[in-house]
Amino acid sequence: MSGNTSEIKYLNDQFKKCEPINAIYVKKTPKERLRQKFDLVRKEVYWLQQLDGFDRVPQLINHNAKSFTMTYKGVQLTKEIVPADWEEQIDYIITSLEKFNVSHNDIELGELLILNGKIQLIDFQHGTHGRAEFEKIIKSGKAVNRVRIDDRTAMMEALQQLINS
Ligand SMILES: Nc1ncnc2c1ncn2[C@@H]1O[C@H](COP(=O)(O)OP(=O)(O)O)[C@@H](O)[C@H]1O
Ligand SMILES: [Mg+2]
Repeated sequence: MSGNTSEIKYLNDQFKKCEPINAIYVKKTPKERLRQKFDLVRKEVYWLQQLDGFDRVPQLINHNAKSFTMTYKGVQLTKEIVPADWEEQIDYIITSLEKFNVSHNDIELGELLILNGKIQLIDFQHGTHGRAEFEKIIKSGKAVNRVRIDDRTAMMEALQQLINS
């Protein structure tokens, strides 16, 4: 899900509020109504725990019922800063997700950041254990997000869209 569904605070190495440029951590607090309706914090914390150690997604630092803190993963990916090896990077990210058996299911440009030339993937609230689990959710009519294509296709399309913009 992209857009204004959460409050984002950028934190420095002392966990004090700071400008994004100085951030080491990010604290995400989903809007209360959405958090309750979709169990957002518990879900996203769970997926970040599953992905512990993967260098292209935020690492979970701490969490409580209403919010969680993760590592800072850079700025929004834009046309000007698309890395030359983006296709290899996408392959690395998708192959790694497969190894962790995690499907993101909602990849759009808004969920792609870049840090030190490395593409980063955020916002795992629609994650599933592999793609098959998500296909079942779609069939049951319970999928709430917009994206319906698989992670690799979605990531390729997002990058193509950016490059052609
Ligand atoms: N780990 C992070 N590092 C840097 N920026 C982040 C991080 N997580 C979120 N952001 C910023 O906050 C925005 C919203 O975060 P996101 O997780 O997509 O929330 P939502 O569920 O509201 O879509 C992102 O587009 C990005 O600009
Ligand atoms: Mg988002």
